[in-house]
Amino acid sequence: MLHKKVEAICNRQVEREGYSSNLYLAMAAWAENNGLAGIASWLYVQADEERLHMLKFIKYINERGGKAIIPAFKKPAAEYKSVEDIFTQVLKHEEFITASINEIVQVTLEVKDYTTHSFLQWFVNEQIQEEASAHAILDKLRLVGKNNMYIFDRDILGLRAAEANANQP
Ligand SMILES: [Fe+2]
Ligand SMILES: [Fe+2]
Repeated sequence: MLHKKVEAICNRQVEREGYSSNLYLAMAAWAENNGLAGIASWLYVQADEERLHMLKFIKYINERGGKAIIPAFKKPAAEYKSVEDIFTQVLKHEEFITASINEIVQVTLEVKDYTTHSFLQWFVNEQIQEEASAHAILDKLRLVGKNNMYIFDRDILGLRAAEANANQP
């Protein structure tokens, strides 16, 4: 049986991953409405990934004899100042998620739940990737500058492909 403390904090993460998905969907919709099809697709893919992260937690909680709760989600912002504003917020949000995962790791150590500790290692590694890709995008954005958004929008999907290749074993 899942320790109540672990169950509660994993359910907190269900909400956080689900909110991440909705946040990236809101950003994707904004980008789509602003003629930035490449950035929109990058964010739509990211939103799908976050939904999968939420599902991983839901299934894990239930598998271990806990009860996964599907929460209400706070409404993400509909308006963004710029593409740089979006990716600055993405990085900030991913840093928040990393801290949140680390807190769960801490709880598993407190209650000596080594099974959940092991389950979390995938997320620990995933967060390294998530922060690195947000950093890489912000670096590129600063290089291209505000007036070359057409080029950046065309190239952003290539960044994800390059990342996927680099992660191949
Ligand atoms: Fe996530
Ligand atoms: Fe993420």
